[in-house]
Amino acid sequence: MLNDIQEVLYSEKDLQEMVDRVGAEITRDYEGKNLLLVSVLKGSVAFMADLMRAIKIPARIDFMSVSSYGSGTKTSGVVKIVKDLDLNLEGYDILIVEDILDSGKTLSYLMEILQARNPASIELCTLFDKPERRQVPVFPKYVGTVIPDAFIVGYGLDYAENYRNLPFVGILKPEVYGG
Ligand code: IMP
Ligand code: MG
Repeated sequence: MLNDIQEVLYSEKDLQEMVDRVGAEITRDYEGKNLLLVSVLKGSVAFMADLMRAIKIPARIDFMSVSSYGSGTKTSGVVKIVKDLDLNLEGYDILIVEDILDSGKTLSYLMEILQARNPASIELCTLFDKPERRQVPVFPKYVGTVIPDAFIVGYGLDYAENYRNLPFVGILKPEVYGG
């Protein structure tokens, strides 16, 4: 697995620093609110697990799974709910926790359907943001870091379901894509 990595972009320490900073921002902003962290599977699991522990106020968690991608690196534009949330969202201050914001298609769809369930508020937190790639307007309230248009793996992010368990974030050697 490590042989497939061309370059490490964010080390474990870099990631921990980003998560701690975002966690502190959320802790400050959501004091006294009814925070529900909604993790979008599977890419956000590593971020979610670390972020929830960096938040120092009461928070509930829930998970959902939507699919917008095949096994490759380009969006299909097709979004469907594979696993829905367990909780009724009424009265919750929802914070969607995402691994990466790319075209924005997945998130704009998701925010629309969750909004329709009458939460008290709904915001978005993403570890990585590729604003250059946006096709529909989506504005995250919390961003770990903005990155240029490159395909990254690790810390939850996959290529063809692989590399999610890397503890750092990097880019793959071109030959891994069959190039
Ligand atoms: P979009 O914003 O609807 O285009 O899709 C975002 C989703 O695409 C993320 O949740 C990832 O699953 C996937 N994705 C986008 N860019 C990358 C990347 O660089 N590495 C791995 N997955 C990515
Ligand atoms: Mg994903």
